[in-house]
Amino acid sequence: MTQKHTGKSVSRRQIIAPLAIGAVVSAAGGRVLAQNSTTGPRLATPQQTEGPFYPRTFPDDVDNDLANIEGRSVAAAGGRLELAGSLRDIEGQVIDNAIIEIWHCDEEGVYHHVGGANAGDENFQGFGATLTDAQGRFHFTTILPGLYTGRTRHIHFKVKATGFRTLTSQLYFEQDHARNMRDGLYRRLSDAERALVTTDLNQSAAGMNSASLPIIIA
Ligand SMILES: [Fe+2]
Repeated sequence: MTQKHTGKSVSRRQIIAPLAIGAVVSAAGGRVLAQNSTTGPRLATPQQTEGPFYPRTFPDDVDNDLANIEGRSVAAAGGRLELAGSLRDIEGQVIDNAIIEIWHCDEEGVYHHVGGANAGDENFQGFGATLTDAQGRFHFTTILPGLYTGRTRHIHFKVKATGFRTLTSQLYFEQDHARNMRDGLYRRLSDAERALVTTDLNQSAAGMNSASLPIIIA
């Protein structure tokens, strides 16, 4: 497995083996505490359902580049998305060495590693993982997810950090606002929670897309 971007690599074994997390759950317990501010405790990123498409079997390549599978000469179909992020606790402390996983459908709306007749784009990795660095940062290269029936565009993510409850949530794009507001799972969130999982999609003339996701765990 190769790590193509900044950040430490995470092994396939680390993904598959359950994390040995001490039963330390903060008093916040993942609940929304109060409005985010620069001084007091921040809102935690809301939990959202894992959904039915978390991998049942993991790919051999689980690195942070979902657009390229190791050993394949052709990249995934779809517009590139550079997704940068950071991980902090509700007090604003950076969290390093945490596992960040993402999974989403390919350009045609097909999820990978969940079985089914339609295997989708064979050049799309479907799932990836990375570790936060000393500043709590992480980065993925992937594609813009396609759409599938019943949902707005979204990227699933999971955060596993020692001493914290696993966060499972989903990322949305501000540019999809109208569609987001028709999405049952998105509508279930409060305005403040939506703000924590909705990011701007920056699109360059050259067709490169970028977005950032600050994650806060409790
Ligand atoms: Fe999904």
